[in-house]
Amino acid sequence: MVRIGCVDWSSGSGVGEGSENLLILEGIVTTVGSAGDVRISPMGSVVDAGMERLVLRPYPTSSTYENLKRSGAGVFHVTDDVLLMARAAVGRAAAAVERAERVDGYVLADCCRFYEFEVRELDETGERMRIEAHVVRSGRKRDFLGFNRAKFAVVEAAILATRTEFLAAEMIFEEFERLAVLVSKTGGAPEREAFAFLERYVRREAQRTAALGEEVVR
Ligand SMILES: Cc1cc2nc3c(=O)[nH]c(=O)nc-3n(C[C@H](O)[C@H](O)[C@H](O)COP(=O)(O)O)c2cc1C
Repeated sequence: MVRIGCVDWSSGSGVGEGSENLLILEGIVTTVGSAGDVRISPMGSVVDAGMERLVLRPYPTSSTYENLKRSGAGVFHVTDDVLLMARAAVGRAAAAVERAERVDGYVLADCCRFYEFEVRELDETGERMRIEAHVVRSGRKRDFLGFNRAKFAVVEAAILATRTEFLAAEMIFEEFERLAVLVSKTGGAPEREAFAFLERYVRREAQRTAALGEEVVR
């Protein structure tokens, strides 16, 4: 267990009890693959307002986990670019990057804030890995546009799209219907494009699963 003051950073799926100052911030992590390739992956991180320390919870099957374990460093980004988040959630996405200064890694050229980090502790005992990292350099690129319901809807849809293997297809489609209203009411072109991209993806996945004759279970 890692405690900072009275704060428990060791929680399982949520931020945990006694962690009033913590929240899970959704962002994008860049890591470097074994061939030197840049991996761009949406990930939530437990953070506090100071953002000096991050706790990531990648699944053991994720490239982010593999890369962080091998290289010990990455960059966490705060961004409002939900189109990139959607694309990167369900496949390999490309984006302009710049070399990080304090770690062997890459900073997204178009992001709001970035946090270059080094891995300090790696716990592989749970279903999801627990990676505690310290921020060694941070910076700002541009302002965060602001709250927008369509952007939130795309983030939710992207998370659902990464769970097609273990969530019932009907449940995903119902959620998408609800989220679609927010996108059409409040979204701009990037949000609509991101949502349509995710809709196509989950439909394809459902068809693929049906074709395989597999029963999709919760
Ligand atoms: C907003 C958001 C947050 C996510 N957070 C996590 C996370 O904390 N841990 C995780 O393993 N996957 C998370 N995912 C799913 C990964 O992005 C997805 O599985 C991705 O394909 C992993 O890419 P990688 O294999 O390059 O690491 C999240 C997805 C989204 C859209």
